[in-house]
Amino acid sequence: MILNGKETALNLNNALKLNIQEDLKKYRAPHLAIILVGSHPASLSYIKGKLKAAESVGMKATLHHFEDDVQTETVYQMIQALNNDKDVDGMILQLPLPKQLDEAYLTQAIDVSKDADGFHVLNQGLLYQGKPAVKPATPYGMTLLLKAYNIDVLGKHAVIVGRSNIVGFPIARLLMDLGATITVCHSKTTDLSYHTKQADILVVSVGKPHLINKNMIKKDAIILDVGINKVDEKLVGDVDYNDVYDHVSAITPVPGGIGPMTIHALLLNTYHLYEKHVKINTK
Ligand code: GUN
Repeated sequence: MILNGKETALNLNNALKLNIQEDLKKYRAPHLAIILVGSHPASLSYIKGKLKAAESVGMKATLHHFEDDVQTETVYQMIQALNNDKDVDGMILQLPLPKQLDEAYLTQAIDVSKDADGFHVLNQGLLYQGKPAVKPATPYGMTLLLKAYNIDVLGKHAVIVGRSNIVGFPIARLLMDLGATITVCHSKTTDLSYHTKQADILVVSVGKPHLINKNMIKKDAIILDVGINKVDEKLVGDVDYNDVYDHVSAITPVPGGIGPMTIHALLLNTYHLYEKHVKINTK
């Protein structure tokens, strides 16, 4: 089975659009502000997708684009202006940032009430305590995709390759919350394939094209491939899709798998922040 993120995200975006159409009878439109620094080709392409999707559901989306050589203070001032702008519900600072910028300082400068990426330490702390939090978009989108395909995680062994703060670590927590047993592997793991072969659900998020082949997986595993790599002008994941296809019970394609679900989850996060901003005093 192919886990079609593109189609699932389209359906979920359509449902979100209907909610927003209802809200627009009473309130202003939800507003996502995106800060982009430089012209990293992958970031430009992600941002284009985010802007297009936001507009397709009836959200306002604004792009604040800085040159590659901008200094931390200038970006910080923009974040403060957006924090203080009552029209803005959600904000993201597209990563990676050029080296001269202080990424930790800038991501934490985003007001927690506008943290559409869930990268603020307060949201991460709430998530790790299993409390309601803004969930990072990629892992949140992955759980929504599993839900859309009625894949029950309870009691399954999920093996995660990659330990980043934006994917590997939070998806470990979210799958654990859903009742999975978790193993987290990373670049220092010895005998990676020993672990990946144990996986009922295998999540791969390291950015290495075709790292995982059929000899590294258990028959009928469920594969979530977060990798987006350009090889010979083609996008491929971290999993060798053609090699593993006959050995899996379900797999996300690249492109068209996790990517569109990440964008949907970002819009959903922004929408939930919007609801808190505009509806809080009217319920
Ligand atoms: N770069 C790669 N993934 C992400 C993401 O989810 N959010 C942001 N802001 N930057 C990213």
